[in-house]
Amino acid sequence: MLDWSQLEETCKTCTRCGLAETRTKSVFGIGPRDADILFVGEGPGQQEDLRGEPFVGPAGQFLDEMLSIIDLGRQNCYIANVVKCRPPMNRDPQEAEQDACIGYLRNQFALIRPRLVICLGRIAAKRLIRPDYSITREHGLWVNKGGTWMTATYHPSALLRDPSKRPEAFRDLMSIKSKILEVGAKF
Ligand code: URA
Repeated sequence: MLDWSQLEETCKTCTRCGLAETRTKSVFGIGPRDADILFVGEGPGQQEDLRGEPFVGPAGQFLDEMLSIIDLGRQNCYIANVVKCRPPMNRDPQEAEQDACIGYLRNQFALIRPRLVICLGRIAAKRLIRPDYSITREHGLWVNKGGTWMTATYHPSALLRDPSKRPEAFRDLMSIKSKILEVGAKF
């Protein structure tokens, strides 16, 4: 396991997969390193690739609105992605790319030791909760893995594309707020 500065430096200069060739900046993650709440997206989009920060484009603006509904902000949760470099044309990250990159997220998880992990979308949920996870059927449900509570909700991009999913995502947010209060996670 690497410490924060070694990990961030390794990630910044990583060439473990082909995404390194097309990225502008790798997107390590952001937030308090002692956060109780960790949000995990899929991978950087165009704005994130340019700025080196997660969720700063349209999906990020929507994520901020979602967080504000339950009195969360970037100052009280850590935000990271399954893959740290932008897949060209925002395609899904391939299994091999996820395999090459997942060690960074696992190391971040080990350093942060969050109480709650919230997967944003199918890719993160399949990678972190269960390979056959169904976001449509299982979003908003909680599982405890090794002492950490984990759930998933729709990806903010999916909610921008399909507003009909927003009421379900709203209920997921209510469930996240309840879990925060139930376990006494700091926010
Ligand atoms: N979508 C993601 O999954 N992550 C980001 O950082 C931005 C958009």
